[in-house]
Amino acid sequence: MSGKLRWSVIILAVLFVVLQFVARPAKTNPTIDRTKSIEANTHMTPEVATIFERSCNDCHSNHTRWPWYSHIAPVSWFVTDHVNHGRKHLNFSEWPQDREQADYRLREICGEVKHGMMPLASYEVIHRQSKLSSYDVKTICDWTRAESERLTQSQE
Ligand code: HEC
Repeated sequence: MSGKLRWSVIILAVLFVVLQFVARPAKTNPTIDRTKSIEANTHMTPEVATIFERSCNDCHSNHTRWPWYSHIAPVSWFVTDHVNHGRKHLNFSEWPQDREQADYRLREICGEVKHGMMPLASYEVIHRQSKLSSYDVKTICDWTRAESERLTQSQE
């Protein structure tokens, strides 16, 4: 290795180590009140629960699995950002009690998966098994429709 290259490698290595200390976003799993979860407030089928667990819960619930690389900068910044944003938009651990809001969320869920927007592409690359088949999409949308109907009926 030439002198210059060796120094570059050393500087990069030091920077990498320093990065680990400068920005350490909090990776939290807020406490879960089971009575507020989507499972407790909808009639969820085991098939749908399995799909959500496999493909959505890491970003849309309070029981995120934080893999080892999610603790290493700069990956940790992206991962934490996705989880924080994901939870803000939709959190299966804090399902709305309000019927209209719940109905809105159900429609959104079907819309996002139908258009292939979710799970995020960057997540699918690493979690290959999270990619939804067209059968998964149908399973989700059949369920969200049935659930919306149930909500409307229980209102009358
Ligand atoms: C890697 C993290 C990640 C995964 C996995 C993931 N999402 Fe998301 N989701 C996000 C983020 C970030 C947002 C908010 C920003 C955006 O709309 O792109 C979001 C937004 C949403 C929204 C709200 C859209 C809106 O316009 O407000 C819905 C609904 C949604 N996701 C459903 C799902 C479903 C269903 C799954 C599983 C099939 C899933 N997501 C998997 C990160 C994720």
